[in-house]
Amino acid sequence: MITINHLRKEYPNVTPLKDVNAEINRGDVISVIGPSGCGKSTFIRCINMLEKPTSGEIIVDGVKITDKKCPINLVRQKMGMVFQSFNLFNHMTVIENIMAAPVEILGKSRQEAYDAGMELLRTVGLTDKALNYPDELSGGQKQRVAIARTLAMNPEIILFDEPTSALDPTMVGEVESVIKDLAKKGLTMIVVTHEMRFAREIANRVFYLDQGGIYEEGTPEQIFDNPQKERTIQFIRQLKVLDKNIESHDFDFIGFVSSIEEFGRKHCISQRIIYHMQAVFEEFCVQIILPQLPEHFKMNVMVEYSPKEDVAEVKIKYDGGQFDPMTSDNELSLQIVDNIAESIEYSAISSEEYTNFVSIKIK
Ligand SMILES: Nc1ncnc2c1ncn2[C@@H]1O[C@H](COP(=O)(O)OP(=O)(O)OP(=O)(O)O)[C@@H](O)[C@H]1O
Ligand SMILES: [Mg+2]
Repeated sequence: MITINHLRKEYPNVTPLKDVNAEINRGDVISVIGPSGCGKSTFIRCINMLEKPTSGEIIVDGVKITDKKCPINLVRQKMGMVFQSFNLFNHMTVIENIMAAPVEILGKSRQEAYDAGMELLRTVGLTDKALNYPDELSGGQKQRVAIARTLAMNPEIILFDEPTSALDPTMVGEVESVIKDLAKKGLTMIVVTHEMRFAREIANRVFYLDQGGIYEEGTPEQIFDNPQKERTIQFIRQLKVLDKNIESHDFDFIGFVSSIEEFGRKHCISQRIIYHMQAVFEEFCVQIILPQLPEHFKMNVMVEYSPKEDVAEVKIKYDGGQFDPMTSDNELSLQIVDNIAESIEYSAISSEEYTNFVSIKIK
């Protein structure tokens, strides 16, 4: 249904999409999730050409819509979009909002558009509001009208950009249930959302967007229960992360230790866990690993804290020859770490940058 090849979108100061590739099948319901600013809105706005991609191609139902000659109205008819902010015409009644495009763009008679519009209002549970103006509706009702208006064009694909994030919590459910019903009817849908529970329930596929592309994709079970890649795991588990590189033996030790303290306070981490993170850093990184490294080296220290589980983990990556810190003869440091660690795991790795990886889970 939709093929996306090497999609890139540059703005003057930032390039949110570097290289996006995807194959979306008819009937797919795709949840798009990812950190704020990673390009989710840009991604779906490019799909219906509300934003012009810098390069790459998008093919919808066999039509290359990124082609300059492609009539964009044809594309818009196939694809409806529902925005966070409803975008209803405030000077028109609800039913007029729904009838406008079918009459003006599809050339339907007013009667035909009215009948179809009333039927759609029934689907979203709002027949009694047909003659009201948008200002007289609640947020949830407005969004249901916006969905009915999109459906009035009989689209094959609907794109949703955070359809519930402008709503009062009490109204999220009514809009979600309308969208879920549509998903069951076999429409192809792409839904950007930060409601993880909804993203999971509605979709057959989840795209996790990060670092300019689809960083990881899978079924909801794969992405939410068993994410494979580092940034996906951090996002799904809502980890707080302190990420630092050390490349010289005379790095700022005090600065590093106090940045752990600062990180801990910022995220309301208990003093005990803060001490333990600092101790792991000092004993493992500084006392055991650093003395083993040559003059020029690369080391990455990542401190991760999970507020949900109130646990922390320190992950250390470094280059040089393979060296398992547990084989160190620095017994004092090993004992200190052993006392505060739930588990210590070492593995030799062969990524581009690092050759050793050790992760210490803190009790
Ligand atoms: N019209 C624009 N001009 C310049 N920069 C833009 C424009 N639109 C978006 N950006 C930038 O592109 C990046 C991606 O923005 P986008 O709105 O796609 O993110 P998002 O993932 O939807 O974020 P959120 O979760 O906050 O909605 C951001 O850094 C944003 O500031
Ligand atoms: Mg957005």
